Amino acid sequence: MSDLAAPHILALTAYEPGKPEDELKRELGIESVVKLASNENPYGPSPKAIAAVSGAALQLHRYPDPRGYELREALAAHHSVPPEEVCLGNGSNELIDLICRVFANRGEHAIFGHPSFPCYRIGSVAQELRFTAVPLRENLYWNVDDLLDAVRPDTKLLFVSNPNNPTGSYIANEDLARLLGSLPQHVLAVIDEAYFEYADASDFVPATGLRHTRERLAILRTFSKAYGLAALRVGYVLGSPELVAGLNRLRAPFNVNTAGQVAAKAALADRAHLRSCVEATIRDRTSLSESLRALGLDVTPSQANFVLVDVRKPGRAIYEALLLEGIIVRAMPEPLGSFIRVTVGRPEENARFLQSLEGVLRDSRV
Ligand SMILES: Cc1ncc(COP(=O)(O)O)c(C=O)c1O
Repeated sequence: MSDLAAPHILALTAYEPGKPEDELKRELGIESVVKLASNENPYGPSPKAIAAVSGAALQLHRYPDPRGYELREALAAHHSVPPEEVCLGNGSNELIDLICRVFANRGEHAIFGHPSFPCYRIGSVAQELRFTAVPLRENLYWNVDDLLDAVRPDTKLLFVSNPNNPTGSYIANEDLARLLGSLPQHVLAVIDEAYFEYADASDFVPATGLRHTRERLAILRTFSKAYGLAALRVGYVLGSPELVAGLNRLRAPFNVNTAGQVAAKAALADRAHLRSCVEATIRDRTSLSESLRALGLDVTPSQANFVLVDVRKPGRAIYEALLLEGIIVRAMPEPLGSFIRVTVGRPEENARFLQSLEGVLRDSRV
């Protein structure tokens, strides 16, 4: 690429998404593929969201509502906040990038965990921020003091995925309150709750309950996971009116499409569908974890819709062997080179994965 791209961009490792189902079908010439790679809801969205998308098809020649009025009103009512405290994004991914661009200057400092969601690093590097990737304890567990120790006078952003992707671990109630209460005023705390619907630990609290304790707080949510709308790319941030106004200065016009807006509004209203999907996944997270432990593998206790498994062999080799069986999971980069991350699927998908994994682990060539 020579010098076409800027050097800091050339130094970036691009985000590697889960392998698409159709790609594997084409490559292997097979019909039946199980994708457990992108932490999607295997049951799909509310039928009401699908109906809303069909209705919106008649408006495809019109630009979307640039301010997402109806969805923001619905989210504001859902969270009992004014709509001025809600900003919509093209997935929460767009908002992560936007937060880096709006709230930090080149050369200032950001903090995130490692391993954690790679887009915090990508957003920081793209904005030419300095950063500290704070190692999780045993590579798996958050430690709030380690995060606080990383704060510097020029720190502008702290990203925490709670529960964390890819470990499924979380920061408990008291620690989260202490983190938000102890961070110096100059730090914007970004609590990314992409998976919070799946957190059932008695000491887990969503950061929404702690908003009154901290002015500089952005809470990220998404419709891509529990709501089953990953294809439509809708996320949002809850923050102060000043924070939302800052994001709106740089937010691309029409960043959330019409189908996404109407589907998210309908999905938000269908609490029964959300509840039944989440309950099934939490139940199957337990049984999947138990079956993996019965195979002698270590599974990190998860509060999300995926499990992180130490296969004690190169995770990449296991990932590739599973691909040949038509199963897509995720191999993990270092320091989790012997781990794979597996989304909790439907019971029959989990069963097929377990059967294939058992065979692959038995195969001495892997
Ligand atoms: C922790 C976390 N945050 C944000 C996202 C981005 O989600 P989306 O852009 O689909 O809202 C993901 C996606 O995997 C994630 O794992």
